[in-house]
Amino acid sequence: MISEAQSSLAQRPLPKRAIRRTGLSLSVLGLGAASVGNLYHPVSDDDARATLAAALDAGLTYVDTAPRYGHGLSERRVGDVARGRDDVVLSTKVGRLLTPDPRLKGDAERYGFRSPLPFEQVYDYSHDGILRSYEDSLQRLGLARIDILYVHDIGPMTHGDDDARTFAQLTAGGGFRALERLRDSGAIDSFGLGVNEWQVCLRAMEHVDLDVVLLAGRYTLLEQTALESFLPTALARQLSVVIGGAYNSGILATGVKGAGPHYYDYGEAPAQIVERVRRLEALSDRHGIPLAAAALQFCLAHPAVVSVIPGLGSVARVRQTLALYGAAIPAAFWRELRAENLVDPQAPLPGEDL
Ligand SMILES: NC(=O)c1ccc[n+]([C@@H]2O[C@H](COP(=O)([O-])OP(=O)(O)OC[C@H]3O[C@@H](n4cnc5c(N)ncnc54)[C@H](OP(=O)(O)O)[C@@H]3O)[C@@H](O)[C@H]2O)c1
Repeated sequence: MISEAQSSLAQRPLPKRAIRRTGLSLSVLGLGAASVGNLYHPVSDDDARATLAAALDAGLTYVDTAPRYGHGLSERRVGDVARGRDDVVLSTKVGRLLTPDPRLKGDAERYGFRSPLPFEQVYDYSHDGILRSYEDSLQRLGLARIDILYVHDIGPMTHGDDDARTFAQLTAGGGFRALERLRDSGAIDSFGLGVNEWQVCLRAMEHVDLDVVLLAGRYTLLEQTALESFLPTALARQLSVVIGGAYNSGILATGVKGAGPHYYDYGEAPAQIVERVRRLEALSDRHGIPLAAAALQFCLAHPAVVSVIPGLGSVARVRQTLALYGAAIPAAFWRELRAENLVDPQAPLPGEDL
């Protein structure tokens, strides 16, 4: 792992990029707050607070949370640290309401989270469901304002056979209208989708002008399918993109030299992914740079991308991530990445004219 001293940019203020349609500026490196919602393993209240404070103090002022993250725990923790700070830009999500269930006790893993909060999630993308979700989030956050709302996990990947019905809640059911009303009234600044699939973003753009999309796992060093049609359309429509899951759940941060298991897209990595990461890691080793640094910096080279938000659950991870962001990567690394066909030949690379 690169030391903070080796990092050329870590000490400078983090740059910001503006969401093109609304002008709201996000730090290029943000904090994905699923981790402080106890994703896969518990994080203590003290550690969560320290992690969030360290990130904000270091200039990672864009924070993304959701009702789903720890069944409300992430929003509570994020709000408690953000309250009173003017520099924070906050996104949360709509589409899942949290309903109390007294039968839920303890912090056994549910939906990937080890949170003790006794709430069950219920999907609702309708006009009134979106407004209720927004109001509930304000209460959990303990904040008077939310900057960005993402419609969370709409699309067939989450809803399967229920895709058409849930999508219709946004269109005929008025969900998008509720978001437009919130934006037009100034209650929020921007809205979009927070999803793991880009196809549904194109579908949504037939119905509504989205400001910003949080796309997770689909534009990374391992996968650039978003280059085909989504990212060019985003540029043409002035839509800005935030990249989540830049490590595809961890494998691009840890590499595959260790014993594993190696995590890829919320599960154990299949053999062909492990092999591909092995090749990427061999290339980064030859150039003496951490694979995770290349994974972060790659995403930011696309002109539609305004921020990349790795999941960070400890102060150490915040510090490492700043160093990775600032690590000097030689141009030869990016040239060889392309020459060895390890990325789509159309993918913009750091250092090239955007
Ligand atoms: N549908 C959506 O809207 C959606 C979907 C997915 C993600 N997101 C957003 O994107 C954020 C990030 O996504 P993610 O957490 O799923 O995936 P990710 O950033 O690709 O991976 C997070 C994992 O990488 C590990 N990691 C991070 N930095 C590391 C480092 N320097 N060295 C080694 N391991 C490292 C973390 O391990 P440790 O736990 O050990 O630190 C964590 O398990 C989320 O928090 C959320 O805000 C949104």
